[in-house]
Amino acid sequence: MFKWWDGWPVREEVDWAVAARSSLLLKAVSCWRSDADSWFANAYERLPETVRVNPLSDDSEWVEDWLKSVDCKPIDWFKGPGSAWQMPFERGRAEGDVKSILAALHETGRLTRQEAVSMLPVLALDPQPGEVILDMCASPGSKTTQIAEHLGDSGVVIANEVVRGRVNLLVSNMQRHRSRSGVVVNHDARHFPNLPEDGYDRILVDAPCTGTGTTRKNPDVWSRWKPNGGRSMQKLQIDILSRAARLVKPGGRIVYSTCSLDPIENEAVVAEVLRNYPSLSLSMAQDAIPDLTASPGMNEWPALSDDCSIVQDTEQSETFAPPTESDIAAALPKCMRVWNEQSGGGGFFLAILEKSADAPSRRAAEVEETLSEEKAPRDHDGVPRPISEAQSEMLTDEWGAIPEDLWSRGKKILWSTPQAHSIWASERGRRGGRTRIPGGRWRPLKVASLGLEVAHLRRGEFERVVGAAASRIVGITDSGHTKVPSETIDKLLSGEQPEPFDVNSELAEFRGNHLLVDDSDGMAIPVWIGGRTSLMLRTSELVILRAIRGVEPLEESQQTNEEE
Ligand SMILES: C[S@@+](CC[C@H](N)C(=O)[O-])C[C@H]1O[C@@H](n2cnc3c(N)ncnc32)[C@H](O)[C@@H]1O
Repeated sequence: MFKWWDGWPVREEVDWAVAARSSLLLKAVSCWRSDADSWFANAYERLPETVRVNPLSDDSEWVEDWLKSVDCKPIDWFKGPGSAWQMPFERGRAEGDVKSILAALHETGRLTRQEAVSMLPVLALDPQPGEVILDMCASPGSKTTQIAEHLGDSGVVIANEVVRGRVNLLVSNMQRHRSRSGVVVNHDARHFPNLPEDGYDRILVDAPCTGTGTTRKNPDVWSRWKPNGGRSMQKLQIDILSRAARLVKPGGRIVYSTCSLDPIENEAVVAEVLRNYPSLSLSMAQDAIPDLTASPGMNEWPALSDDCSIVQDTEQSETFAPPTESDIAAALPKCMRVWNEQSGGGGFFLAILEKSADAPSRRAAEVEETLSEEKAPRDHDGVPRPISEAQSEMLTDEWGAIPEDLWSRGKKILWSTPQAHSIWASERGRRGGRTRIPGGRWRPLKVASLGLEVAHLRRGEFERVVGAAASRIVGITDSGHTKVPSETIDKLLSGEQPEPFDVNSELAEFRGNHLLVDDSDGMAIPVWIGGRTSLMLRTSELVILRAIRGVEPLEESQQTNEEE
């Protein structure tokens, strides 16, 4: 018997507790597994707070030490790069200093707050530096940032989202993360363009779903979910995964994941795509995450009526029913189901599909027309393009030496990777490849943003380096910055505003934006030099730098200049 009233201390949660006990979802889970009680007992409490530490940040060791100091425990099945931690309180329930440092660590990209099971698909995808990855349903981008951590500064992750408003969310999340490898695009994944033409090394399909595994985060799922929810999502899920099947390279990998427990959105989708794409095969998902206790994929499930009774429904669509082909039925247990009691968090599903290395490459159509540069469609204004010669000269004047792979978009200078440039530069086809279009453009990709924002222009002239990129830029450039002792940096962080001469005698006459570099550890901070020298840091960055360096704010210096 459920002892489900135990542990319901919060009064306002009682309503959805009642909804949970009488929900169709509980009835459905009782049809999908024999011991639904142990799932239910673990499917309603608030989730624990969990985070992923960004290994690309120079401060990752400090972050890990801080997490240990506030009693966080490493998540033992997470195998990196970076590390993952469970905090000793529920999601959103941090207090005091822990709350402000946690928020600032997230805002400055040093860690990402992410539900533990949501970290699984990227471990299964296993992206490698240098690769070209497509994240087909990417917003808000927690998995895209995790992919970027696998790639480092080599490779590219094309992060796609169909909903415009959610594209903006994805762009800000990528900027928060401070990685260079992301390119954010805006397409319906079902019709994602065939670019790069030789396909993607790996594709993540983290599909839209009914979210039946998210009851600990979204309690309204208890009252909202109905069996026709999964049935109505399935065609979209199959269509997106089918597009991935076409876009992945021979020898490449696709990971399909959902936060749903419904086999119609999971195993049934995988079965249909295996049926239609014989060059794909499942590989054992558990092998990719050996330390996590999970269950195999299902190859039998009953048809459910609208009130979740089992029916002998011979009329249901073939794509809703378990597969009748013995090879597909035998393969489905290679998928991974994570029930709430196994993760200690949410429920999840994932499948790893590999495309055979000798699958034919996409057939090259007979070329009927090759468009000249003049006739080829151009990118719209506002799309990032490689910096012009004039911009390159201007930045070289400022910095002495400039990094490769700089782009400009409006007033922003962005820093990307060679692989992003190769996609932009590659020739491509239209009309199934019958029309050839020269490279040197993003079209047909609709690019919203890329790489890391490193500098701002004003009326076409260099204005300043962005704080988030300052330390990385001074590691590459020769000028545009001044070395100062650690104590000077600490004074500025505490809120002092020294006169320029006291910062460095060479700055006595200088006026404008500048970077100061700690001469002992190379850390750089942006400042504005006028009559006095003031920090140009976001509050969240200031909170963390003070914590890392043990700097106390001056009483009267609570005001900090906001950077952006
Ligand atoms: C499960 S969420 C993705 C979560 C994300 N991967 C993460 O880890 O932060 C699914 C996303 O797919 C988007 N989506 C829905 N239909 C889509 C389509 N046809 N093409 C591309 N994205 C789609 C939704 O707007 C939603 O943002």
